Parts: sequence; structure tokens; C-alpha cells
Amino acid sequence: MADQASRLRNLVEEKTGDNSSTRIITITSGKGGVGKTNLALNLSIGLQMAGKKVLLVDADIGMSNINLLMGRITQRSLLDLARYKTKVEDVIEESDFGIKYISGVASIEKMMNASHEDLRIIQRKIIESSNIADTIVIDTGAGLNRYVMEFILFAREILFVATSEPAALADVYSVIKAYSEYKGKGDLKLVVNRVRNIDEWKETAERLNQTTRKFLNVFVDPIGYVYEDRAVAEAVRFQEPFIVRKPKSPASRCVKELVNSLLTGMEMPEISKGWFTVFQNIFG
Ligand SMILES: Nc1ncnc2c1ncn2[C@@H]1O[C@H](COP(=O)(O)OP(=O)(O)OP(=O)(O)O)[C@@H](O)[C@H]1O
Ligand SMILES: [Mg+2]
Repeated sequence: MADQASRLRNLVEEKTGDNSSTRIITITSGKGGVGKTNLALNLSIGLQMAGKKVLLVDADIGMSNINLLMGRITQRSLLDLARYKTKVEDVIEESDFGIKYISGVASIEKMMNASHEDLRIIQRKIIESSNIADTIVIDTGAGLNRYVMEFILFAREILFVATSEPAALADVYSVIKAYSEYKGKGDLKLVVNRVRNIDEWKETAERLNQTTRKFLNVFVDPIGYVYEDRAVAEAVRFQEPFIVRKPKSPASRCVKELVNSLLTGMEMPEISKGWFTVFQNIFG
């Protein structure tokens, strides 16, 4: 798998050119439910707002839900790309928020039957979409199976999402460990989701890095955080991305700063939550 993945990476470089601005960012976490899909979607919209041409790919296997978060239904999916005749344009959907996207495969059974060769074809076709998008964001499912690993090895940038819970950190560590066993060479980044304050972010990032440095000799760049925010669950209920529904909410402001940090490499500043949110958090 590592050899095939590195061959594919070479193909990415060949297709997009070494200095190309095409970015492939895979979002993953190990642990389920930590906020990958919400981050993938809202970050994609944020990047698009900042002038990028974004393609969001739902590579969650069996539990794909990017559609749902945007209140849409579609019959096409990533797996259709494995068919010889299907072009990437045939499966790409336009959203109401500027970004283009490819839906995931809702049937776990169908995807389980997908062969390595199918995945290779799918990935090759995604690479070909670099003329459609300059930024490709890939959302993966929970856990660490061969599909998740394939899409992690495929990207140049891997964005790990964790919360400050020990189980979330342990799972991110397991994915990083597997990634280094596969000799992955991408840039590893960390976003800590659902933090209540800046210290929680800093401590979580520090804890992960101490462990990865000591045992794996790997550094994970802690690019930022997203606050615990009711606007997220509310937006999910209303099937609208929170960055659109509540653009001034703490979570949205965090995502906009994350976009800035991804585009400029600048450190994410401290974001004030506003008194209303502080009040809400204290008194529920
Ligand atoms: N910053 C946040 N503040 C408050 N709630 C959040 C936040 N981020 C995520 N959530 C809650 O967590 C739920 C799960 O988020 P999401 O579906 O993005 O996680 P996931 O990691 O993609 O899950 P899975 O592993 O199942 O794919 C959301 O529906 C929302 O209720
Ligand atoms: Mg998800």
C-alpha cells in the first residue's frame, strides 16, 4: 500500500507540478464523532470564501453525510468513479455555498467490495480534478481501515482532528503511528475541536506532540482550534453549514482563522468568544 501510495503521490506531483498551488488535504481523526465532517465542510466553504476553488470529497465509507449537512440528496457517489467510463465531472455536484463536492458512498457493503484497483482509479480521477479545483479537501470516516489509510497516504497535508479527551488523542496517535510505519511523508497538522479555552488547545497540542516526538520522532503542527459552540449542533439540525448560518459565532470565527492560517502559515490568534457564549457555557 505504501509503495502504491507513493507512486500515486508522484503522479499528483507530475500532474499538478511541484510548485503547483493544488492542495490535497485529508481530514482524519481515528476516533469517531470528534467533528471531522463539520470541519471539512465549513473549512472548505471558508477556503472558497477566501478565493480558492474548492472540491470537497466525502471519503467516509458507509456513513457519508456531507450531503446531509448541506440539506441535499444525491444519487451519485465517489464509488461511481471506479467505473471506467465515469469522469470526475459526472460525479461532482454544485453546492449552494460555492464549493463543489463529491458525495460519499452510503452503502458500506458496496464500498467493502471496492478493490484496491477501484480505489486507485478513484484517486487518479480525483487528481485529474486539479483543473476544476485548486484545493481538494477529503473527509474520511472514523477508525483506521485500509480506505482511511489510502486517503491519508494520498494527501500532501493531513489534518488531524482531536478533542482534548484522552481517547481522541490516543486515536490520533495510533493513526500517526500507522502513518509513520507506512513511511508517509506528508505535512501533519492538528486542529483541536470543541475547546472551551485557549489553554485547553495548547495543552492538548503539547501533550500529543510530546508523545509523537518521543516515540515516533514526528512533529504535528498545531494549526489551531475550534471552540465548543452550540451553533454547530444547531446548524447540523438545520442542515446548513454553521459558517453560513451563524457566521459570527465563535466556531465560525475559529474556522475563518484556520483558513487564514492554512493560507498564510500564520499562527492562529486568540479569539474572543464574546460574553454571550461565556455566559451560555457557564449557565448552560
Ligand atoms: N465545535 C463544536 N462545538 C459543539 N459541537 C460540536 C462541535 N464540533 C462537532 N460538534 C458536534 O459533534 C457532532 C459530530 O460532528 P461530525 O459529524 O462533524 O463528527 P465526525 O468526526 O465527522 O463524526 P464521524 O466520525 O461519525 O464521521 C456534530 O453533529 C455536533 O453536534
Ligand atoms: Mg464524519
